[in-house]
Amino acid sequence: MKNILVTGGAGFIGSNFVRMLLAQEPDCLIVNLDKLTYAGNLENLAGLMDNPRHKFVKTDICDGTAVEKLIDEYKIEALINFAAESHVDRSITGPKIFIETNVTGTLTLLQAARDKNIKRFLQVSTDEVYGSLGDDGMFTEQTPLAPNSPYSASKAAADHLVAAFAHTWNMDCVITRCSNNYGHYQFPEKMIPLMLNNALNDKALPVYGDGLYVRDWLYVEDHCRAIWKVLTAGKKGEVYNIGGCNEKTNLEVIRIILKSLGKSESLIKHVKDRPGHDRRYAIDASKMMNQLKWKPTVTFEEGIAKTIDWYIKNEKWLTNIVSGNYRKYYDSTYSNR
Ligand code: NAD
Ligand code: TYD
Repeated sequence: MKNILVTGGAGFIGSNFVRMLLAQEPDCLIVNLDKLTYAGNLENLAGLMDNPRHKFVKTDICDGTAVEKLIDEYKIEALINFAAESHVDRSITGPKIFIETNVTGTLTLLQAARDKNIKRFLQVSTDEVYGSLGDDGMFTEQTPLAPNSPYSASKAAADHLVAAFAHTWNMDCVITRCSNNYGHYQFPEKMIPLMLNNALNDKALPVYGDGLYVRDWLYVEDHCRAIWKVLTAGKKGEVYNIGGCNEKTNLEVIRIILKSLGKSESLIKHVKDRPGHDRRYAIDASKMMNQLKWKPTVTFEEGIAKTIDWYIKNEKWLTNIVSGNYRKYYDSTYSNR
């Protein structure tokens, strides 16, 4: 599969994926469809905008006519859907847009992919669709879906739609469910870049509740490699869990960040907990490892060191986002394309 439609490719994981693919697959053409919401940022695609194998198009995944036109124009063979509203806290304060983008948007893409006979549809999902774990156990692909937040409920609804389209129209669909990602270009509303940004500016680090919530952290480039594996070697109709084998409490992660920056733990401030906060996520990724021969290659120590280094060196990227300046950058650089 050479001509690939990537949605949400100006976001955190999507932009890392586009950069990886352009570098490693010289025969691939990537059409990158992104609405450029608050989370989409063309600075994430720095150095890629003039690549003739990368076509950026500012569009909404809910616009079926535009999606179908792109599929025809670029003879698209595979579609990878990264586009989403992705932040749990925002889904609690304003769930509606999560339904529009994550559910209606996925439905629109599925209809277009079906009507245009796309060879493979890959839905980028999340381990959060499985709900929350206690102290023991891990999510497998057989774990029933039991989402707790409006974000995870919208992602679970999308997963059900993907499965329904595969079943009803015999479409070739695959779903990936990954644990928490970290790395360069992550929007500083998510825990790791938020804590990094605050620590760099000597601001308090807001830890929800007791800070003993557990996430399984995976370096973003390992996730991108896994997605490519599933697209190219995964079996039709299958779900693949992707994880880092790297469970840490939020406080453990925050202490590592503070230590690396030489900042005091007195910056830690316990604040009111997130409503309905999932206690623990842990992924059993043995299917990916055994069947597709994928495994994480970057240890947490290496990955967090690279991430911290990147955010320090790319302070302008961070301040542009925090001050909302990147819209100006977009308008002056790309608006007439
Ligand atoms: P992100 O918020 O950084 O990026 C989302 C991108 O989608 C942005 O570029 C945004 O402009 C675009 N977008 C939003 N609504 C759109 C619409 N209606 N039409 C077109 N584009 C739209 O998100 P991310 O962290 O890169 O996550 C990407 C995908 O991976 C999501 O589907 C998310 O659910 C999933 N995921 C994320 C993580 C994580 O830890 N970040 C873990 C597992 C799965
Ligand atoms: P987040 O990055 O929002 O990812 P998710 O909720 O999808 O796992 O949060 C990761 C963990 O960090 C989660 O347990 C909530 C916690 N957290 C804080 O304690 N403080 C914060 O300011 C944020 C954004 C998250």
